[in-house]
Amino acid sequence: MEITNVMEYETIAREKLPKMVYDYYASGAEDQWTLQENRNAFSRILFRPRILIDVSSIDTTTTTLGFKVSMPIMIAPTAMQKMAHPEGELATARAASAAGTIMTLSSWGTSSVEEIASTGPGIRFFQLYVCKDRNVVIQLVKRAERAGFKAIVLTVDTPRLGRREADIKNRFALPSNLTLKNFEGLDLGKIDRTNDSGLASYVADQVDQSLSWKDVKWLQTITRLPILVKGVITAEDARLVVQAGAAGVIVSNHGARQLDYVPATIMSLEEVVKAVQGKVPVFLDGGVRRGTDVFKALALGASGVFIGRPVLFSLAADGEAGVRKVLQMLHDELELTMALSGCRSIKEITRAHVVTPWDNPHVAPRL
Ligand code: GLV
Repeated sequence: MEITNVMEYETIAREKLPKMVYDYYASGAEDQWTLQENRNAFSRILFRPRILIDVSSIDTTTTTLGFKVSMPIMIAPTAMQKMAHPEGELATARAASAAGTIMTLSSWGTSSVEEIASTGPGIRFFQLYVCKDRNVVIQLVKRAERAGFKAIVLTVDTPRLGRREADIKNRFALPSNLTLKNFEGLDLGKIDRTNDSGLASYVADQVDQSLSWKDVKWLQTITRLPILVKGVITAEDARLVVQAGAAGVIVSNHGARQLDYVPATIMSLEEVVKAVQGKVPVFLDGGVRRGTDVFKALALGASGVFIGRPVLFSLAADGEAGVRKVLQMLHDELELTMALSGCRSIKEITRAHVVTPWDNPHVAPRL
């Protein structure tokens, strides 16, 4: 069957993957309200396209933290990609490089920072969970630096793991042929079977629940890499990110896997954008499945978006080729959306190109 959109890969992945693995990737927390909402909210934002603009040439290139990328679509950190495909994160890294975009490697990758570096050139970020043993954190950040990673993506919404009921029922654990390669040789390298979600037990044992703003400062004393704070959804915290000296914000609700009933990220985005007042770039992840979604996020002030599940599902379906295809489809859809909206470059996408439910009620869509 010919794949014509990103969503189709999820159907294939569901058929192909063991239930425990598919459920782990696909699930949100508790009632999964935010999971639905991350998608649904995009459909409440409509376009105000401009016409009769010469769109014979469209440029989707932009920069992220000063690095040139082919498009404002990057790869979010997702854990344990070798459960999806034997080449896991290595295939994802190659696909991102081929597409001219950035890959973020998860702390909980089944490939190490060094293995990712060995796939060849490419711009990569490293997602960090701060574990209780700070020596482990220091070593890991140093290894990421040495392996040529260009930024740290600090996840701040996971002092404990959200309640993902499928993982509890399935007694989720990392298959025994795999390890969390960044922690190989340490007890942090395995996620064992418990009477709960094995990952929830792992987080309770290993992740530092006391993490606070002073640690964002501390992190800056152990690395010169720019830090993106991932998991910010309020204006209050966005201002604190700027004060703490971080390089940027990722508006994220962790793919709806942590606190249920937080708004869709596309609903939180403008609040955060306004609060940071242009001092640092703001990115978004959560529910991005179409080029139109990307355009909407940019119109509301994002400098770029990250995709998570589409990578896992395309990887499961077709390895590196699947991830390449996802990136290509999103690129092409974004380019088409730009052409049909009268935007020739990323800079030309403005707030006036969309209308939201919270805009002038005479213009806003009826809901
Ligand atoms: C990992 O970050 C997860 O959400 O499972």
